[in-house]
Amino acid sequence: LDVNGAFDPAAGGLARADLDALAAPARAAFDGFEARRRAGEVGFADLPADAAAAEASRALAAELGRRFENLLVLGIGGSSLGGRAVLGALCHPFHNLLPQDRRGGLRVFFPDNSDPATFAALLDTVDLERTCFATVTKSGGTAETMSQHMVLRERVVARFGEEGYRERCVLVTDPQRGVLRQIAADERLRALPLGASIGGRFSVLSPVGLLPAAAAGVDTAALLAGAAELEARCRSGAVLENPALLYAAVLHLLDVRRGRRLHVLMPYADALRDLGDWFVQLWAESLGKNPGTGPTPIRAVGATDQHSSLQLMMEGPHDKVVTLVRVAEPRAELTIPLPAGYARHPDLAYLGGHTMGELLEAERRATGAALRKNGRPTISIELPRLEPRTVGQLLMFLELATAYAGGLYGVNAFDQPGVEAGKRYAQGLLGRPGYEKYRDELLGAPAA
Ligand code: PA5
Repeated sequence: LDVNGAFDPAAGGLARADLDALAAPARAAFDGFEARRRAGEVGFADLPADAAAAEASRALAAELGRRFENLLVLGIGGSSLGGRAVLGALCHPFHNLLPQDRRGGLRVFFPDNSDPATFAALLDTVDLERTCFATVTKSGGTAETMSQHMVLRERVVARFGEEGYRERCVLVTDPQRGVLRQIAADERLRALPLGASIGGRFSVLSPVGLLPAAAAGVDTAALLAGAAELEARCRSGAVLENPALLYAAVLHLLDVRRGRRLHVLMPYADALRDLGDWFVQLWAESLGKNPGTGPTPIRAVGATDQHSSLQLMMEGPHDKVVTLVRVAEPRAELTIPLPAGYARHPDLAYLGGHTMGELLEAERRATGAALRKNGRPTISIELPRLEPRTVGQLLMFLELATAYAGGLYGVNAFDQPGVEAGKRYAQGLLGRPGYEKYRDELLGAPAA
């Protein structure tokens, strides 16, 4: 983590005095989080130490892997984005297209929406005989997820009977509460627990993320080991000794003191595109709270978005800070050849002999420098390479930063009343008993 670009005077950055003034609030945010952790209210930072949950996910994934070829993960929001982020970062970019012997695991699909066009197309595409599914919902009652579960259940029972359904369906849900827990008992389904202290968007290192990751062939032990290392590195309330606290503090300060309320995460690696989406959910759903506080996270990908939203970042309103993420050693490298006939075109010849990785890195460096020169602060994160250990570190880093940022913004990072409000209205419209008043309110009908 390099925050110097956020302290560059030319970039409209912070002064050292800003950070000094934040020492006490940062310590308070750290202490507040640790107190909730000790009280057992917030458990994500302790997941790397939960060997039983990790082993249960691995064992179930191995069992499914022996019998099936495809895994459909039915979940939405935090019950989908974490798994998708891990697979995106660590699997072959075209994992699902590879033949089985090159994949090293199941094909995994995340149909995280109740859009019938996508879900119908997916069900028409996969061979149900060779397909299992994990219904992932902490509350157990999320309409999008359960509608998919009910559609798929009907097809599977019709084709393979109740026993075939039991073989194909596994659940991840709250160990005690919720309708899905009841269904697990009634239908005798295998179910992994998602503990009460693990919120959806903080669940990537629980069975929610570990099951699909292990099923796809990811080394989840190394992923958790990396997360544990990062957690151990963040046990200080002193802002300069805790990298996640420093990151949260710098982003918070840039927002409240310099008006940089749009927080862009821009990895220069396609593999981190989905992790960017996961971060957007984490930062937005955790920090955007009443009464109207919260930075807006944005996911960009370098170099792709240099030909798109970078124009706005470079010359638009002075309301953004860009975190540029570098992967020092790309997973594969290609040297750019110089065909004989191209040598006489200086506009192209300069590329010859460089690698594509060098090109990407030059773009990242140049973009960071240009942003700062244009009065836009930047932050840099560097990963030596993308491997389970470093991805585990990055996930824990961003989760801890979010938890601390909640304290700095003075909000509860672990609830989502706004999301719940939308769910209630939708369920009222669809006729859920007890939700009539939401339907009436929405349709303007007189209260009963
Ligand atoms: O972070 C969260 O809490 C949400 O994004 C949830 O993960 C999402 O709403 C899905 O909820 P559930 O897992 O209960 O189906």
